Amino acid sequence: MIKQETIDRILDAARIEEVVGDFVDLKKRGSSLIGLCPFHNEKTPSFNVSVNKGIFKCFGCGQGGDAVHFIMELEKYSYPEALRYLANKYNIEIEETEQTAEQYAEKSHRESLYIVSNWAGNFFRQSLWETDEGQSVGLSYFRERGYRDDIINKFELGYSPESWDALCLKAVEEGHQVDFLEETGLAIKRDDGRVYDRFRARVIFPIHNLTGRILGFGGRTLKSDKKVPKYVNSPESEIYHKSNVLYGLYLAKKAISQENICYLVEGYADVIAMHQVGIENVVSSSGTSLTEGQIRLISRYTKNVTILYDGDEAGIKASLRGTDMLLKEGMNVKVLLFPDGDDPDSYAKKVGTPAFREYLTNNIQDFIFYKTKILLRDAGNDPIKKAEVIHEVLESISLIPDEIKVSVFIRECSTLLDVEERALIVELNKLRRSAQKKTATQGKDASAGNRATSPSPMGDMPPADLFDDDAPAARVPEEKKEGQSVSLALKALHEREVVRLLLHYGEMPATWLEADQQYPIAIVLLVDLQDIVFEDPVCKKIVDIYLDYTEKESLPPVRSFVSHEDRAVADLAVSLLSSPYNLSPNWNDDKRNIYVAQETDNLKSAVLGAVYRLKKQRVEKEMQTIREEMRQVATDDDLNLLLYKYQKLKQMEKDLAAYLGTVVVK
Ligand code: UTP
Ligand code: MN
Repeated sequence: MIKQETIDRILDAARIEEVVGDFVDLKKRGSSLIGLCPFHNEKTPSFNVSVNKGIFKCFGCGQGGDAVHFIMELEKYSYPEALRYLANKYNIEIEETEQTAEQYAEKSHRESLYIVSNWAGNFFRQSLWETDEGQSVGLSYFRERGYRDDIINKFELGYSPESWDALCLKAVEEGHQVDFLEETGLAIKRDDGRVYDRFRARVIFPIHNLTGRILGFGGRTLKSDKKVPKYVNSPESEIYHKSNVLYGLYLAKKAISQENICYLVEGYADVIAMHQVGIENVVSSSGTSLTEGQIRLISRYTKNVTILYDGDEAGIKASLRGTDMLLKEGMNVKVLLFPDGDDPDSYAKKVGTPAFREYLTNNIQDFIFYKTKILLRDAGNDPIKKAEVIHEVLESISLIPDEIKVSVFIRECSTLLDVEERALIVELNKLRRSAQKKTATQGKDASAGNRATSPSPMGDMPPADLFDDDAPAARVPEEKKEGQSVSLALKALHEREVVRLLLHYGEMPATWLEADQQYPIAIVLLVDLQDIVFEDPVCKKIVDIYLDYTEKESLPPVRSFVSHEDRAVADLAVSLLSSPYNLSPNWNDDKRNIYVAQETDNLKSAVLGAVYRLKKQRVEKEMQTIREEMRQVATDDDLNLLLYKYQKLKQMEKDLAAYLGTVVVK
């Protein structure tokens, strides 16, 4: 872990305009800098950098944050990785917190495995380029396949000599421990305790993690003997978890982000072939079906996946399977088939770069439509088979979490299948219910499924069940559900407004008060809202931080929010700080100055308005609770007590409303 003092030094040193300026051409506009957003394609700049606040915000795509977030988003780094990047940029020495002996041992053990893997990578490469055997066997194989030298280097390809112990001997000679060779699978231990090389007389494909460190290897035989396994791969190890690794991702990640699409191919050779024709946004799961972890990796960079398959029968079948996981994870899945048994590798070699690229752009189809067409073609005019087709297509559609996409697919497939939309929807609901039942019997509350728990843009509103007209879940009566969520949403807005005022004006004096009582606005807000419990967890967290500081008679620096370790806190702070009053390019300087002048002139009404709106809301909520209680009381006395309370609240509500009417000129 990086020490907090180091983090502070990095945050102090990192000037947002310098960090962003390394990647974006920034021009001055008013009090902020403006440029073309690196996170989405645009022709007119909507990407703003506020030097004073230390944040960036794009009004086109919504990205925003401090310097650390900028680097995290752009390079897809983790928080510590981004800190290290900035530390390097500003020549800050990183100090780590003390580790326990165990943590240290574990880390240094893993580190040893990385070191020995890296060493082996070099060993294989040297064997390829610098030995007679490597050149005449390995290198000539690659060249015969048409691999260019720059590509062989880019992928760090190598060769393992035809020997039982060349690697082991050399490793020990150079001081590496046999244990580490064995743990990484480079060496295999025999029953008699002696070890031998796993990779012998094979060309070697190193497998890298996201930062380019070698985790393991794949070795392809050069013999056509069917008894020899075509590939030998490193086994799982402490550093190599196959389900979380994609071949080629390290070299592909930038291009995947930029192109906003990831090509998925079957093997090492296909990945390399694509690079040879200049397409770098390509990965392979190395012959196994995709895991959830691998899909998560891809979805850090894009939601769009195109699967490239052989055009033979097996390839087509394979393309129909194995997409479930992608659909379930909400990816947009497309497919591309190569003609007659060609794979990307062989097709690229056959037709050359321009034709290959053209084929790629012209032949990609949406997976759902593709599946529908293929199955329909096979079913012919057989009505029973056609019913099966409908069923299978709907099965795929039922996995898609996004209801809007679902309805588009239903509409289109209704045309393709020549079946009424309504009938498809009924069938889809059946499928969903039986899937729900299945998961319900498998796991306790899995019945909620992906769909029901996926975050809804309406915050607390339950996700709209467009099709499920009689879902088994217990349902809140319509009217109550609506009322609750609307007031919750409003409450969240009012809470945000308070936080916005805290962040913007917290340190300014409340000039409308008596001269000797002109506390900072933050204090006024916090004192007035003592009795309010913030419900939005992020707002609450920010307000709590303010409260902590005020106990020490100070106020938190705004930077501590925009650089907060909790991303939700930082995101909210950034979006509130870059509200139209400050950063929006839609306000030219004159207009903006006028607007800011208006809000600062009228801070009293902004502050009191926010306070009273929240208070009024709380009163209304209490009134509602009382109304509910009144329906259930047993005795007249109880009822009278409730009525009394209710009258009091009603009066308070009226007062607050009147006050809001006079103080707040909106
Ligand atoms: P392929 O047989 O298509 O291999 O298997 P390839 O990489 O295209 O090799 P070439 O073109 O024959 O040289 C696809 C992927 O399946 C995995 C490898 O990751 C391979 O790249 N595989 C295949 C194995 O792990 N073991 C095998 O025996 C075969
Ligand atoms: Mn191949």
